[in-house]
Amino acid sequence: MAGFQTKTFLKHDDYMTPKSAWENIAHLIPKDKIIWEAFYGDGKSGEYLTELGFDVIHRPIDFFENDLGDIIVSNPPFSKSKEIIKRLSELDKPFIIIMPSSKINTSYFRENFKNKGLQIIIPRKRIHFTKHIDGKPVEGWKNATCFDCFYYCYKMNFDNDIEWLL
Ligand SMILES: C[S@@+](CC[C@H](N)C(=O)[O-])C[C@H]1O[C@@H](n2cnc3c(N)ncnc32)[C@H](O)[C@@H]1O
Repeated sequence: MAGFQTKTFLKHDDYMTPKSAWENIAHLIPKDKIIWEAFYGDGKSGEYLTELGFDVIHRPIDFFENDLGDIIVSNPPFSKSKEIIKRLSELDKPFIIIMPSSKINTSYFRENFKNKGLQIIIPRKRIHFTKHIDGKPVEGWKNATCFDCFYYCYKMNFDNDIEWLL
């Protein structure tokens, strides 16, 4: 949902994550940690993670003004990638975030996470998000995502630096 409380967020950031995107990595997320799904959207992402058995904080609050949970698991607004990557680096806590695969080439990823043990999970198929406008799903918007994403992971201590999902 674009905008909550006093904030106004960009409408073109409203791309909601399908449950399958969290189901596909549920085996890689520890069950004994509190997850902060830090970017609210329509609230469903937090519900999906809860349904998968995780202890989840998912509230309509500003990511930049809060620091909650043990692990950040989220799909953030891509228009703010630079600021988000900087903030994640400052927080220095474990995270799994969905972002376009092209982001690994950006100078801000390099500046903040070069040689810091970043790990990547590669989805088996493209993740298709649901586009929302004014809080409602756009009719006919299905399987229309035109870019690929990775799950960028930090301090998750996976066995492999690149995890290829089956
Ligand atoms: C790509 S959507 C994903 C929403 C949800 N995390 C999901 O996976 O379905 C990102 C959302 O972050 C929200 N957002 C933008 N800036 C934010 C901020 N500073 N703090 C918290 N949420 C923000 C936008 O309103 C948008 O709905």
